[in-house]
Amino acid sequence: MNILVLGSGGREHTFAYKIAQSEQCEKLYVAPGNAGTSEIAENISLSVTDFEAIKKTVLEKDIQMVVVGPEDPLVQGIYDFFQQDSALKHIKIIGPSKKGALLEGSKERAKEFMAMHNIPTAAYESFTKESVEAGKKFLETLKAPYVLKADGLAAGKGVLILEDLAEAKTELENMLTNEKFGDASKTVVIEEFLDGIELSVFVLTDGKNYKILPTAKDYKRIGEGDTGLNTGGMGAISPVPFADEALMQKIEERIVKPTINGLREEKIEYKGFVFIGLIKVEDNPYVIEYNVRMGDPETEVVLPRIKSDLVELLSKVADEKLDEATLEIDERSATTVMTVSGGYPEAYEKGKEITGIETIEDSIVFHAGTKEENGKVVTNGGRVIAITSFGEDYHKALKKSYQNVEKLHFDKMYYRKDLGKDLN
Ligand code: AMP
Ligand code: GLY
Repeated sequence: MNILVLGSGGREHTFAYKIAQSEQCEKLYVAPGNAGTSEIAENISLSVTDFEAIKKTVLEKDIQMVVVGPEDPLVQGIYDFFQQDSALKHIKIIGPSKKGALLEGSKERAKEFMAMHNIPTAAYESFTKESVEAGKKFLETLKAPYVLKADGLAAGKGVLILEDLAEAKTELENMLTNEKFGDASKTVVIEEFLDGIELSVFVLTDGKNYKILPTAKDYKRIGEGDTGLNTGGMGAISPVPFADEALMQKIEERIVKPTINGLREEKIEYKGFVFIGLIKVEDNPYVIEYNVRMGDPETEVVLPRIKSDLVELLSKVADEKLDEATLEIDERSATTVMTVSGGYPEAYEKGKEITGIETIEDSIVFHAGTKEENGKVVTNGGRVIAITSFGEDYHKALKKSYQNVEKLHFDKMYYRKDLGKDLN
């Protein structure tokens, strides 16, 4: 079948890489894609939230499956747009309905869903402009650090963790009355701080059945030792070494099953990925967030470890027959190191020539912010290229990723050299 992947990052290059390996894939398109996807698929220039343009492409190119990478089109209802259009209804679209996507689109909704289905998470209350004083009173009942979350999508920037009560009150005011994060912070969730170690679990579901995909840990901060500003992600490791069988069993029983059952009970159509951000406190898992898509750069380590045919798995998802599919996982560890433009996540320059890509051996090169210009590959974003490697354990995989990263060059290239050190 002909398949379209929506998005332009390392995540989408990885999807394209796995999909291209399937015998079931005839023609592969990525929109808008990057310089990496153009080598294995045909890039189509369009905006991932321009549903009419997507419809035109799908019909013109006779596309039978659409895999949605980022959250924006999902939260804006691309699944429902397809379902409600007689010309698109039969097309397999991988992603949740708009109602399902609210698990990421609204932190308040996610917390209500967890409360309703007894899924362990931090205690919370939510507040609006009208209840800002009550919010400040609630902060006084909590211990530092204080966790403030903008309800809506804020490009990963909407969570503040503050040590000082007075500062927390000021920021609450800024979010609610001064719209610090625009509409996204019209409602703010204040929650209890959970002190523990983070990991992410990925679940593929057809809304009834599910398969748990490999776990991963990403490195969000720009600086070594987890310092500095938050980024989209500076690298990832899969599997997470401390996610042993006992912990995974708790995660499945207490979190994954009630999440899928909750979707079913609430009659929410959900044919896609659930990315569950967790914190392990002592020996128990708590949910800190749901995302309704795969993570980036987690995808760059999770998908390469899936040995089964990804198109087959996704087809079963679309047909609500995921129980009939088999999921085979590569036992080896996978790691990815993300190279970024100097200055990122703040201002950075684009258009720098990237060299050395063809000298990389025994690792997989996933492009993120790159494009082709006059026959050269140049930088086109903050996160530029991720180098994924396999190894018997994450130390060996990381060694390969780092050896290969050194062969890459572009002006002001930066990457974190301390991945995995926190796990030793
Ligand atoms: P989120 O966007 O909800 O994933 O939050 C961003 C980051 O804030 C998470 O990756 C955690 O590191 C941290 N965080 C969020 N909620 C909590 C919490 N309740 N306790 C401690 N850390 C948190
Ligand atoms: N790496 C975190 C995310 O994709 O949200």
